[in-house]
Amino acid sequence: MSESTNSGWYREFFEEMGIEYEDYPFTKNTENEVKWMIEEYLTNPEMKILDVGCGTGRHAINLATKGYNNITGIDLSPGLIRAAKETARAKNVRVDFRVGDAREMPFESEFDAAICLCEGAFGLLENDDENYKVLKAVHKSLKQRGIFILTTLNLFRDEQFDIMTCRWESEQEITRKDGQKKILKCSDRSYTFPELKWVLEQHGFDVLLGANPFSREPIQYGTMEFMVVSRKL
Ligand SMILES: C[S@@+](CC[C@H](N)C(=O)[O-])C[C@H]1O[C@@H](n2cnc3c(N)ncnc32)[C@H](O)[C@@H]1O
Repeated sequence: MSESTNSGWYREFFEEMGIEYEDYPFTKNTENEVKWMIEEYLTNPEMKILDVGCGTGRHAINLATKGYNNITGIDLSPGLIRAAKETARAKNVRVDFRVGDAREMPFESEFDAAICLCEGAFGLLENDDENYKVLKAVHKSLKQRGIFILTTLNLFRDEQFDIMTCRWESEQEITRKDGQKKILKCSDRSYTFPELKWVLEQHGFDVLLGANPFSREPIQYGTMEFMVVSRKL
């Protein structure tokens, strides 16, 4: 087994994992997550929606199966985008899946809504400035009053974080596509709701809701993630 440094760990982590990403238990609630978003914020199938860090495209494809025909999904991992395109083809739906970096998205005032779920880029990057580049790019991509649904790691879930950085440094074993096992050093940023609300406000968003993911319930201690819904000012 070899070790890597943690810079850019997320590239290798997700690229090696491929479609097996969908074996994680937390990916199994897509239908309910999408239903909630449709009922609450993505109410019109004509909406143009951007899925940032879309991974295997589970939300984008589910939306497309419900008649949303203007979905774009962007992810850094060519392998995950390939998997997303294959699933979309198998389900006979059209989604504009693209390999790309969420920090450098080429869109300008194009989308009615953006979703960035399960740390789709935001929170995975090396430092706060890199993570904020994702918020800047999402802001630029949205039309005025465009909706932004974000879920992120909850700092108050356990005590496994570095108190100076609010990052969770972990070592995770991955199985590479060639079958080799490898330990990767991973580093994820966690947030509190007041911090993220302030950060979003500094980036030109008006925060509409902070809640347990895909609900209007207050954020709780011990839950892995929380959700923030905001609107481009
Ligand atoms: C935990 S997965 C979440 C995937 C999907 N949103 C979901 O809910 O299942 C994080 C995704 O973010 C992608 N990612 C990481 N950094 C990125 C970046 N800078 N730009 C675009 N995608 C990125 C990874 O490749 C991975 O697919």
